[in-house]
Amino acid sequence: MNTISRGLADIKAQLTVPVSLLQDIATRFQMTMCDALSGKPSSLKMLPSFMGIPSGQEQGTVIAVDFGGTNVRILLIALNGAGQAKIIAKKIFPLKDKGGKYDYMAASVSGMQLFDFIAGNITEIAPKTGDVYPMGHTFSFPCRQYGVNQAELINWTKEFKTTGVEGQNIGELMQSALDRQGLGHIQAQVIINDTTGTLLTAAYTDNTTDIGAICGTGHNSCYLEPNHPLTQQPMIVNMESGNFDQIPQTSYDACLDANSEKLGQQRLEKMVSGRYLGEIVRLIVSGLVKDGYLTAAAENIQIPYSLTAEDISAMLADHTQDLEAVADIAASRWDMSSLVVHERTVLKTIAGLVVTRSARLVAATWAGVLYKIDPDLSRHHTIAVDGSLYEKMPGYSEDLAQAMKDMLGEAANQVTIRLSKDGSGIGAAIAAATVYGSS
Ligand code: BGC
Repeated sequence: MNTISRGLADIKAQLTVPVSLLQDIATRFQMTMCDALSGKPSSLKMLPSFMGIPSGQEQGTVIAVDFGGTNVRILLIALNGAGQAKIIAKKIFPLKDKGGKYDYMAASVSGMQLFDFIAGNITEIAPKTGDVYPMGHTFSFPCRQYGVNQAELINWTKEFKTTGVEGQNIGELMQSALDRQGLGHIQAQVIINDTTGTLLTAAYTDNTTDIGAICGTGHNSCYLEPNHPLTQQPMIVNMESGNFDQIPQTSYDACLDANSEKLGQQRLEKMVSGRYLGEIVRLIVSGLVKDGYLTAAAENIQIPYSLTAEDISAMLADHTQDLEAVADIAASRWDMSSLVVHERTVLKTIAGLVVTRSARLVAATWAGVLYKIDPDLSRHHTIAVDGSLYEKMPGYSEDLAQAMKDMLGEAANQVTIRLSKDGSGIGAAIAAATVYGSS
């Protein structure tokens, strides 16, 4: 074996998730869910949403704000009351300007400035005056909810740093910003997590949906708890599963965590979500350079987050003989310009291993939920997923399905994993219509 292949074999051994580990994670996840529900300390936050499953008959035209990452989406959505949601207008804008003109995710910005910026963008889509207009707000960060429109941010994730938002009531911050923009007739009716939105959107037409998840910049899952301890009724629970901490870490994961914004938090998310996958690959490759396995000059390999999930996607989609796209990415991101084809193959293989590990770890947590709500898998379950990793990363959905088969065998036929496109935004509209319709 030549030396780089030996280096790769070691990396492969660290990143592979065998079936025994999948089973172990699923069982630990199930136990952690039960601990958290019964009030024991746990890495799963298990936050109540105060939302159940929609009837499919919710209707009306509703504004939805989908805020959970660098891009905020404002949608005007018509629900027809027969399971159909139509996006009538849409505005997408970044919170961070690529040219460096502004960055609303930075610590130098206040919560008021952030929400004023979002409300300012809502003016372009919303009716300017008129009767009370319902708005649903997807806010995709861990929030302690006291009711459908009372949500307090516990802590930022996904490397957000905006000042003065942690511990605040997001509903009030948003409503005050709307009022300052002269949009007082728009009433923020509900605040939901994006996983809840994803579940609601799929459940609007398919009542077998009982798990919702985001596999995108961030990662999290929610599920329908059949008998919630607070209400003894079915309720969607936002597990904040990105914070799950019962998975063995590699040295690369530990290094990424040590240099991240929130040390020790969101450990699963840091192993699986789009925000971090490129950084894991970078850390692995920089290890290969340091150990002398890669000969190419690599001046920029030390720059944190210099590789993105989009880059990984392009690397995995490269089926050319000489792996041209892989070579271009290594050259442009890291100044690695003289990679031979074998070295390019190594980079692509590492990217694939990191992506497959992500999918297998996520699938294990979903199996944990299924073990809790239906241990015998006696009925059909749909897992609704939104997010760029699931939608666009080559091989991701296949890896998820394979892991499910590895864990559940034949019974995996009882589980459908499917895209809930734009679910996080549309779900906010469904949730708002549910509340507005009943008030
Ligand atoms: C947040 C979750 C969210 C997930 C996906 C995580 O960082 O903590 O609330 O659901 O990202 O957007």
